[in-house]
This record gives sequence, structure tokens and C-alpha cells, in this order.
Amino acid sequence: MVEIKSAAELEKMRKASSIVAEVLVLLKDMVRPGVLTSDLNAFAEKEIRARGGEPAFLGYRGYPATLCVSINEEVVHGIPSPSRKIGEGDIVSLDLGCVWRDYYGDAALTVAAGRISKEAARLMAVTERSLAEALAQVRDGAKLGDVSHAVESCASAAGFSVVREFTGHGIGRRLHEDPTIPNYGRPGSGITLREGMTIAIEPMVCAGRPGVEVKEDGWTAVTRDGALSAHFEHTVCVKRGGCEILSAGPAGTAWALI
Ligand code: MF3
Ligand code: CO
Repeated sequence: MVEIKSAAELEKMRKASSIVAEVLVLLKDMVRPGVLTSDLNAFAEKEIRARGGEPAFLGYRGYPATLCVSINEEVVHGIPSPSRKIGEGDIVSLDLGCVWRDYYGDAALTVAAGRISKEAARLMAVTERSLAEALAQVRDGAKLGDVSHAVESCASAAGFSVVREFTGHGIGRRLHEDPTIPNYGRPGSGITLREGMTIAIEPMVCAGRPGVEVKEDGWTAVTRDGALSAHFEHTVCVKRGGCEILSAGPAGTAWALI
């Protein structure tokens, strides 16, 4: 069942999501060669708490950190570690969730560390654009399949593949609610989006073949073929003629806007 949120619920999600966005924008500027992923995590936790929020991922199904840091062939759910240093030319996906008065916000972006390859830059740009094109489909009356299809067609037109093992999701008083939002689908298929639904759309795109596996740590998802992967995510509310990006953050800082 997909819930319709009240104005009061939306207000809390707006706050949770704006904390996520603000902290992600700060983290983005910290990403450079030599930085430990555990330092990014510690900063994220401190900044969320300083804003009166709580980390959403810490302890979620046993996840041990506030932030997910997924580098290069790591797709999602990379666990920050003091033994993991960001290197020159890495692409670094940062995924962050926050709870504010029992309501969740969730967002992600991928950043370059130092000078990256042309292919890596193209992958990041296409993944961000696939989120923008998915967002452009969201409005009351649209089909969920239209949103999913937008991600898939943008990625595949560029010669990239989408991740099928992980999806976007409804979000609200829980991190993961109905509906499940695959990054592939048929236009016109699936549920009808209605005003007041809140969803997290999160394209995960790979430069190589489809297929991911989870490492021995039980969390880190990597591409099977070792190719690069990028990830962008926003929490949004369905509106009559479009959507409100709850995780847009301070003016001028939002990612994946067309
Ligand atoms: N954005 C991711 C998701 O929606 C982050 C979850 S990480 C976890 O699944 F640790 F909380 F699982
Ligand atoms: Co999510």
C-alpha cells in the first residue's frame, strides 16, 4: 500500500531531507585524494546531529555507519573505514539518510576526486541526467513505469547498464516503504502516482555489463565485471503537475535538475 502523506508529515520529511541535502553538499567539497572515508562518515554524523536529526542508516538492518561511501566499482552500501583512502581519479558515491521527528529523508550523489577519466565523467553525467529525466516524469496521474523507464532509456542510450538488484523506494515514517522503484521498466506500466506520495528515486548506473555482487562484509555491492558505477538519489513528493524535490537543499546546490 502506498501512503499519501499529510501536510504535517510532508513538513517533517522536508526537514529531514533538507538536512541530508545540506550535509551532502558539505561532504561533496571534502572529497579529494587522501581523505579517509571514515572521516567523511564522522563528519556526516556530527553535522546531522548538530541539525537536530538522527542518522537513518546507522543500525538499519545492522548497517554500521551513518554514510555509505561507494568508490569506483562499488555500486552502493560501501562501509566507511579508516583503512580506506580516496585516491586520485576515483569516483565517490555518497549516500546519506536522516530521521527528523520520526520521518525520513534519503539522497545520494557521486563526486570526482581529482582528475577523472572521460568515461568516468560521462558515467557520472549520464547517471545524474537519468535522475533528472526520471524526476521530469513524476506528477499526479503518471505511471511508475514511466519513471523507471526514463532512467533505463537514458542510461542505455549512452551505452551504460542499470543496476537491477537495488531499487528506489517509497519513503516516509520508514526508510523503505511501498512502492519499489526499479531503474528499468515499461512506459505505462505499474501503479499510478498520486499527489502526496513520497518516493526516493535512485538510479545506479554501470559503465560495463549488468550484474552486481555483495562483498564478504555483507554490505558493499560491487559490479561483477569491475566496471565503474555511479549513483544519484532524491527524495521527492508527487504533486499535481510535477514533483517537489524534498532533498533539493539550499538554493543553487541541488543536483539532477534539468
Ligand atoms: N539509499 C539507500 C537505500 O535506500 C541507503 C540504505 S543504506 C542502509 O537503500 F544501510 F541503510 F541500508
Ligand atoms: Co534510498
